[in-house]
Amino acid sequence: MDVKILSIDDLNDGDVGRLFFRARSFATDLRNLNKGSVIVMTAFFEPSTRTKLSFATASLRLGFDILNFDPESSSLKKQESFEDTLRTLASLGIDLLITRTSRALEEQFIRTLPCSFINAGDGINEHPTQALLDCFTLLQAWRCDDFCGKKILIIGDVAHSRVARSNLKLMRRLGAEVAILAPSTFLLSEASEKLLSYERFKDLPNNFDAVMVLRIQKERLEDPLLFSDIEYFRAFGMSKKRLDSLGPQCLILHPGPINISIEIDEDAAYGPNSLIKAQVQNGVYVRAALMEYCCC
Ligand code: NCD
Repeated sequence: MDVKILSIDDLNDGDVGRLFFRARSFATDLRNLNKGSVIVMTAFFEPSTRTKLSFATASLRLGFDILNFDPESSSLKKQESFEDTLRTLASLGIDLLITRTSRALEEQFIRTLPCSFINAGDGINEHPTQALLDCFTLLQAWRCDDFCGKKILIIGDVAHSRVARSNLKLMRRLGAEVAILAPSTFLLSEASEKLLSYERFKDLPNNFDAVMVLRIQKERLEDPLLFSDIEYFRAFGMSKKRLDSLGPQCLILHPGPINISIEIDEDAAYGPNSLIKAQVQNGVYVRAALMEYCCC
């Protein structure tokens, strides 16, 4: 029988007594509540399709229960302070928190919530699960265990990309030589040893094994762009012809979302060398593995 609780009037005195009895037993010993399941909470303060849904899919596949804290429909909109919101979330007793937010808020989350935590993207800093799934996808495509001898090019708005920062670390840890192609305003400001940077397509060598194309992170730009979408595509956009010029079997990655005709065209994005679909599929497996690691 379905029970519908729309009002306190839907519960009689006997019901209330029984509910309080159960709640007390849970409060006395949490094991009374824990049915062996893991409770995961996502809290995304920025838009997401792939990352959020693949965490959710992975969670369901693992048999974990998943909750979503949606800031837009939360009591933050009723002027509740962020600190009070965190205190509330901390009281729920979740096992794993997954956030997409700024580094500062992320730190507050971690300080307040006593549970495992996964960063699903914090500003321009890090996106560890994207790097894991990108590298996993390349290793799978090349059928190898490391990137020794492999040359990988990252094209685009590296300066504002957490995907690039996490990938640079992991790709190089796995043995790859990584180069960057971007307009000067999108190159990395932090010094990085052994990182080859190019500003013109025609200066690139032709022996890359893979290329990762990035979206311009328009939402993070402080100054207006000095070029139009058309000019950007002409200088840095990835086409089938350009892909072929990078290397004989150069594979192509893109973390999504894709902006067709700005950083890439359809032939390159959906052609035979594209791993973009595999990236999304692998996102579920890699995230499931990480969630299991965090919780089991
Ligand atoms: C990336 C992100 O959010 O950092 N997307 C993703 O997680 N798949 C890249 C981007 O938004 O350009």
